[in-house]
Amino acid sequence: MRFKIISLHANVNKEEILEEYRLDEVRVSITKNGEYIINEPLVNDELQSMYEKLMEALFLSLKPLAEVKDPLKYMEEHIYKEAEELDLKNVQQVFPQLRYYLVRDVLGYGILDTFMKDDRIEEITCERYDRNIGVVHRDYTQFNILDSNVTFSTMDAMNSYVQRLMQRSGKSITAATPIADAVTKEGDRIMVTYGKEVSLPGPTLDIRKFPRQPFVITHLLKFNTLNPLMAAYIWLLLDAKGFGLIVGETGSGKTTMINSLMSLTNPKWKIITIEETPELKIPHYRWARLVTRSSANIVDTKFDIGIMELVKGTLRMRPDFLIVGEVRGTESYTLFQSAATGHGGLTSFHATDPLAALNRLSAEPINIKPSQQMLLWFIIHLKKVRLKGGRVVRRVMSIVEIIPKDDKVVMQEIFKYDVENDRFNIDNIKELITKSNRIKQAAELLGVKLEEDLEKRLSLINICIEKNADSIDDVFNLVQRYYDYAPSNGM
Ligand SMILES: Nc1ncnc2c1ncn2[C@@H]1O[C@H](COP(=O)(O)OP(=O)(O)OP(=O)(O)O)[C@@H](O)[C@H]1O
Ligand SMILES: [Mg+2]
Repeated sequence: MRFKIISLHANVNKEEILEEYRLDEVRVSITKNGEYIINEPLVNDELQSMYEKLMEALFLSLKPLAEVKDPLKYMEEHIYKEAEELDLKNVQQVFPQLRYYLVRDVLGYGILDTFMKDDRIEEITCERYDRNIGVVHRDYTQFNILDSNVTFSTMDAMNSYVQRLMQRSGKSITAATPIADAVTKEGDRIMVTYGKEVSLPGPTLDIRKFPRQPFVITHLLKFNTLNPLMAAYIWLLLDAKGFGLIVGETGSGKTTMINSLMSLTNPKWKIITIEETPELKIPHYRWARLVTRSSANIVDTKFDIGIMELVKGTLRMRPDFLIVGEVRGTESYTLFQSAATGHGGLTSFHATDPLAALNRLSAEPINIKPSQQMLLWFIIHLKKVRLKGGRVVRRVMSIVEIIPKDDKVVMQEIFKYDVENDRFNIDNIKELITKSNRIKQAAELLGVKLEEDLEKRLSLINICIEKNADSIDDVFNLVQRYYDYAPSNGM
């Protein structure tokens, strides 16, 4: 049989259920044992046989779906047309189920479709074809990775799945280039290996999913990733074209932080972003989006254009603000050099904490001298932490300022997170003003009265929370008020 429905079912004991929800035709159960159980529409022999015939017919007759305006509608019409031609009776009665499986397998992501549709899933991971696929759920982080009732079962099934997945994103994976990454049309990041070439016992798959509606500063404040005063503080430093670094481990929320902070900056600015994977969404009208070029797969790198080349290029583009998605090696040096030309900057750097970051930046091979380290104003440290109740959350562990002292630099901690109480050390403007040097410098550069200015920013940030400004545009519109009141400010 060429086409066969793989339908997911598992019995779940009622007492074991933590939460149950529906995603269209699917029922998802989260259990106390840390499982993610999918129950799909039931399949009987009649449905199975219709599916088989229709898949065969659709396989031969469907136009490439990329050419179709509304693929879902096109599919539905086609199902009826083919059913009529094949003289299939009872299609009407089983249409919802039939449509579900056909759409899942033709337009959707097959057996991973529920995971891809569930916006509460953050990551999908499969280390072996014969084990249950794991998922990271935004609301059940205490389990780390939830076990699902989905498995590829065979190496062949997983190999063809990863091949199809990569093709959908315009890439290819074969025994010759058995490791590759890609971005889906929804913006999720995929990393796969193929066959037994570079992974044992077979292929691996990892999908990092991003919320369909990106998190904005309001979300981060509501989550308590940072407090309103910290947001006002960073906003002021960015406005004065300070240069900041965001450090943290993989998945600690660095890119999300950069993205949400940018909605707080001057709408009139010209912003350049440089990234390897286009993840950032900047609301500014003058946004130049540069993306590195890497070959179709990560094995062949002859024609690559890297971050360093792009940073060099921006020197002549005179941005107000430059964002580099992530720096790792010697390109950091180029970035520090470019920061000296006077634009603001924000970048992320993979490091366990600010001290480790500064040490790595100043040591071989990056070698940034203290005279250049002074260009760095502040470092924000992000981390995943486990709260008392077991929930894993993302928090700004600290914000430190880099302060020139004699011929060197010193780090001064301004904000600090207290995990015991899940709160931050400072939440009032006066205390912040006594602690921070960089905000005084910023206020001077901008020609504003520090306390008054911080109050203004803080009140707008609080309005974002009160009004629940949960889209980039909502935040941007509110923040715009700051610049309306002070038209010459920060320009
Ligand atoms: N403050 C936050 N609270 C809850 N979830 C968050 C937060 N920040 C980010 N996330 C989620 O965590 C995941 C990883 O976020 P992000 O890509 O920003 O991390 P990162 O540190 O840039 O990762 P990488 O090191 O891979 O670049 C995303 O799914 C994102 O939606
Ligand atoms: Mg990132």
